[in-house]
Amino acid sequence: MDFPIDTLKRPLKDLRISVIDQCNFRCPYCMPAEVFGNHYAFLKRDELLNFDEITRLTRIAADLGVHKIRLTGGEPLLRKDIDQLIKMLVAIPRIDDLALTTNGVLLPRFAERLKNAGMKRITVSLDALDNDCFQKMNGRNVQVAAVLKGIEAAAAAGLRIKINMVVQKGVNESEILPMSRFFKQNGHTLRFIEFMDVGNHNGWKMEQVFPSRRIVELIQSEFPLEPLNPNYPGEVARRYRYSGTEVEIGVIASVTQPFCANCMRSRLSADGKLYTCLFANEGWDLREVLRNGETDDDIRETLRAIWENRHDRYSELRTEILKKHLHPHKVEMSYIGG
Ligand code: GTP
Ligand code: 5AD
Ligand code: SF4
Ligand code: SF4
Repeated sequence: MDFPIDTLKRPLKDLRISVIDQCNFRCPYCMPAEVFGNHYAFLKRDELLNFDEITRLTRIAADLGVHKIRLTGGEPLLRKDIDQLIKMLVAIPRIDDLALTTNGVLLPRFAERLKNAGMKRITVSLDALDNDCFQKMNGRNVQVAAVLKGIEAAAAAGLRIKINMVVQKGVNESEILPMSRFFKQNGHTLRFIEFMDVGNHNGWKMEQVFPSRRIVELIQSEFPLEPLNPNYPGEVARRYRYSGTEVEIGVIASVTQPFCANCMRSRLSADGKLYTCLFANEGWDLREVLRNGETDDDIRETLRAIWENRHDRYSELRTEILKKHLHPHKVEMSYIGG
């Protein structure tokens, strides 16, 4: 039976699905090696949702208005046969946007396969062009050239590409202009993300945030920019175009200008827990619901109840929480995918 979309009192449009919690990088702001070392207990294979389970949940979420899916990790290209899952998800009629966030190094091997499976666009995380700076930021001595090769492979396969750069004051702010020049030249949309206090181990301090407003000013000092209207309601990036070109940049001011009031995205961990906020303390165990023989109707109503009863607005509350010296336990970024 086909249910009408948008039946939720508050819209849920975007579901981000982590397919694996492992990564071949150890970015200190996300998976510090001291915590995610040899003894870290990553999820085991039978703990992961299988592709039928992910597809079923996506179909049910689509009945409630979700039309956009982003596959994340850890590093999603480490999940075996990810192209099979992509084929299953693009076949769901109401899903009109399927993207994937990757660190890029496996793209030379996977780009063609992703494209052939029906994927149209990807986002590559890259925090610096300077090799020393990048090696420190990925924690595994991976070279910038390996990511650039991945980006080239994706472009050659016909995938649209966005680049995400997390900006950390005192770590990679000097890379803002070189990144801007480089990606202006090759035409991929570059987005600058304010460094956030996600997870429990990245030692975040407000002083490490380089405000998006200043990023825009810095780039404007070299290239004139024109602001653009949002592509869709609730878009988290504020977009600009380099004057006289079609090339865009975006800034994601998740700390200095939070966008919780318009938040329409939910996150599913690789083991099937649904998180209603990137900073949530706990998720809702949907794997148990799926494996207990509940019907699609039951699961849809469970999803509806979870979303309609949420009150998350962490980014708006952050300053108050910090002032009170509270340290709420938060879900890890590598587990929930960002
Ligand atoms: P498009 O679909 O290409 O527009 O991408 P997007 O705007 O959804 O952005 P993307 O998925 O690339 O997210 C980039 C980064 O923005 C994430 O890694 C997070 O750091 C941050 N971000 C995205 N969504 C949220 C959110 O709901 N809350 C907060 N606080 N940060 C977010
Ligand atoms: N602050 C902001 N963005 C982060 N990401 C990971 N950790 C953080 C953080 N502390 C982003 C990465 C990547 C995605 C997986 O999440 O840059 O684009
Ligand atoms: Fe891996 Fe991305 Fe986290 Fe870096 S930010 S450790 S690439 S999941
Ligand atoms: Fe949504 Fe939580 Fe991000 Fe606010 S902090 S926009 S509620 S995910």
